[in-house]
Amino acid sequence: MRIAILSRKRSLYTTRRLIEECKEQDVEPVVLNPLKCDIFVGKDNRYLYYNKKKQRRVDAVIPRFGFSITHYGNSILRWFVDSGVPSVANPDAIAVARDKFHSLQVLSQAGLKVPASIMVRNPANISKAIDRVGGVPVIIKLIRGTQGVGVIILESKQSAESTVDAFWRLGRHMLIQQYIIESRGTDVRVIIVDGEVVAGYKRVAKYGEFRSNIHKGAIGEPIELSDEHREIAKKSAIVLGLGVAGVDILESAQGLMVLEVNASPGIEGIEKATQINVGKNIVAYAKKLAAESSGIDPGTGQ
Ligand SMILES: Nc1ncnc2c1ncn2[C@@H]1O[C@H](COP(=O)(O)OP(=O)(O)O)[C@@H](O)[C@H]1O
Ligand SMILES: [Mg+2]
Repeated sequence: MRIAILSRKRSLYTTRRLIEECKEQDVEPVVLNPLKCDIFVGKDNRYLYYNKKKQRRVDAVIPRFGFSITHYGNSILRWFVDSGVPSVANPDAIAVARDKFHSLQVLSQAGLKVPASIMVRNPANISKAIDRVGGVPVIIKLIRGTQGVGVIILESKQSAESTVDAFWRLGRHMLIQQYIIESRGTDVRVIIVDGEVVAGYKRVAKYGEFRSNIHKGAIGEPIELSDEHREIAKKSAIVLGLGVAGVDILESAQGLMVLEVNASPGIEGIEKATQINVGKNIVAYAKKLAAESSGIDPGTGQ
């Protein structure tokens, strides 16, 4: 069995771990950099060239491409899915998850609690929008962003208004969000694979920082997940249609809230904090999808 990992670099922790786990599970890992793929679609045929060479068929795909190439990566992923190769996350679900406002809409529509968030486009409405989400300090975020970049806290309405306006002029959309001060720089990240909770840990922002992203220096701590954490995480992954998801949950005065759902969660922080083999679960899930689509028994490989 061959599994394609769509990733720009073999050396990235998660890609490296998935390669290792494929080998452990008798799967041949094929790392494809989406930017080196050319795809052809035509009336009777479809091809994928990698470094100008036609690719052999793979049995499943694990998309691991980053934010900066979401659109291109999704085109490549769609080629696989359209060719009948299953993926642990489909391109439409990835596109929704990578639009912070769209995913909040889906989550809240499904009855999940999310921080009050507003999209506004008219500069005259910003002040009112800030009041509606609870006033300052307020959070402003790029609709598309990751690793804490583009998540800003603003103490005054005046600076919030001018920041939103400046981003608009640069052609970037922002959302205005209630600041959950009670969470005090911590959140809980839960990894869901194939509808089940695989691991969870707490992330604590470094001193003087409100963002609990590991890339922003946060520390990971093991934690006992409550049933509520588990249910919220599972439901979030289901409503967004993600086979693999990293669900971020904040503790607020109004109860637990889903902050965001990552379609391609990194596993370094969580594997190191919990000692749980998350990579193994992701590969096992890809194998299961491959077997379901081709009739191979994932246990025996026959
Ligand atoms: N509304 C909020 N209230 C409190 N903290 C927040 C809020 N939004 C974001 N944060 C903090 O900032 C971090 C990054 O925000 P997030 O929306 O997850 O963006 P990114 O996709 O860049 O990780 C979160 O993990 C959380 O610690
Ligand atoms: Mg996040």
